[in-house]
Amino acid sequence: METNWVITGDGSRTLFNPAIGEHYHSKHGAFNESKHVFLQSGLVHFLQMNSSTQVSVLEVGFGTGLNFLLSADYCTQNHINLEYLGIEAFPLDSDLVSETGYQNYLNIEIWERFLAVYPNTLNQRMELNPNCRLFIDESKLSDFITQDQFDIIYFDAFAAIHQPEMWTTEALESVCQYLKPGGVFVTYAITGNLKRSMKSLGFSIEKAPGAPGKREMLRATKF
Ligand SMILES: C[S@@+](CC[C@H](N)C(=O)[O-])C[C@H]1O[C@@H](n2cnc3c(N)ncnc32)[C@H](O)[C@@H]1O
Repeated sequence: METNWVITGDGSRTLFNPAIGEHYHSKHGAFNESKHVFLQSGLVHFLQMNSSTQVSVLEVGFGTGLNFLLSADYCTQNHINLEYLGIEAFPLDSDLVSETGYQNYLNIEIWERFLAVYPNTLNQRMELNPNCRLFIDESKLSDFITQDQFDIIYFDAFAAIHQPEMWTTEALESVCQYLKPGGVFVTYAITGNLKRSMKSLGFSIEKAPGAPGKREMLRATKF
């Protein structure tokens, strides 16, 4: 997929995908969005609710790896064991991944190790450090299968207006089957259809405050 770099509202970079007509992150701030939606409202929320020292995350749309990097940095600092699986239909080249500038937002050792292992994480589980393991499954969401169950789903697909097939009840069900009971699903978006779908799949839903530029986002917990 052809992509171009864009500077977002908080100074962090994102990619624009002309074929889809969509950015990889919020134009109001890639770093702020990732930190607010996925790290704070997803990972930190789950850890606080469960007083856990280990956590597993399944991400839909791994892209540049920003959500993973912030999660790995947090877990390493807080001595939490992180198992992370990213689903990505169109993995980015290593050269592009090295140009994000995301080293400005984390411990440099996490960044350097990520760049070193990234090519091997495609279809192979790799250790970043004793706390963090990463595997990127190069597949479309519709083809994805796993034997594993996860504590958290980061749902970071392109917006429904550009990729409606990612947001159908069937697509959501196909990934939510891998969430453990009590597990948390977070995404930057919130729509009537999404709320109805998640309720129909047996989730309790919350309107959480959104990232800068968005009033609300969805957090849903599996019964
Ligand atoms: C909004 S971007 C995600 C940004 C990413 N989380 C990051 O931090 O850079 C959406 C991602 O979904 C991927 N994608 C598009 N169609 C997909 C599909 N059918 N299955 C899995 N991933 C898909 C895109 O290649 C892109 O990386």
